[in-house]
Amino acid sequence: MNVIAAISKRVACSDIQVFDEHPSTNEQAAFLAGKMADDAFARPLVVIADRQTAGRGRSGRSWHSPAGNVYLSVALRPNVAPSALPPLALVAGLVVARVVDQRLATARARIKWPNDVLVDGKKIAGVLVEGQIRGSHVRAVVIGVGVNVVSESFPPEIADRATSLAVLGARCDRDEILADLVAGLVEAVTEYERTGLAALLDEIDRRDAVRGTRVAISGVTGIAEGVAPDGRLRVRSDDGTVHLVASGDVI
Ligand code: BTN
Repeated sequence: MNVIAAISKRVACSDIQVFDEHPSTNEQAAFLAGKMADDAFARPLVVIADRQTAGRGRSGRSWHSPAGNVYLSVALRPNVAPSALPPLALVAGLVVARVVDQRLATARARIKWPNDVLVDGKKIAGVLVEGQIRGSHVRAVVIGVGVNVVSESFPPEIADRATSLAVLGARCDRDEILADLVAGLVEAVTEYERTGLAALLDEIDRRDAVRGTRVAISGVTGIAEGVAPDGRLRVRSDDGTVHLVASGDVI
């Protein structure tokens, strides 16, 4: 079965575009979402590439995108306020962690707040959430997911921090991973629209890669104490003050 059929069997989409090569699937999904009329964009838009030439990471970084891995963007129209968009990175991270775990012999994918998925302390996947805001409402959100599937080596600057399903010895079918991701993302975002993070907090806790460790983030140093119900990271500094951090990179 090809990937369009595998996804269509699980989720009804407004469009599914598959490229051998594209600068960035997030860029393409945002472009499509932006030009589509509301009634044509009633269902998810899906963009997939075999490789990207300008893959985008968080905070303006690039995403190493050689052929054969997962480069997926799903554009959705969730009924949430703009302020409710940032936790979607965590929601998507959970979905990715579940899909990765299904390919491993033991469940061990962890989430490093806000958007990294790690196995054995190394990054196997990243999530980039980009919103399109119109006035005071969310017109669309693009959830971009990169998963290292077949890569067996990485550029020197990330080699000691990156891993892949192939490196972990998992043989898997990329089209099935893509279908699982699209179905999981659509379901999880629908659940998030209804109940926020509440139903996911236990699992976020279980998968939290930094809870209980010393971290530095956005000018705050202290012990990470998990994720608050609104998605912010709790950090207790040495004087006992609990800080709620909304964005930044955990070091
Ligand atoms: C990060 O960890 O910095 C986020 C990486 C997100 C990469 C994915 S790959 C598919 C989609 N298209 C992009 O250009 N970026 C995201």
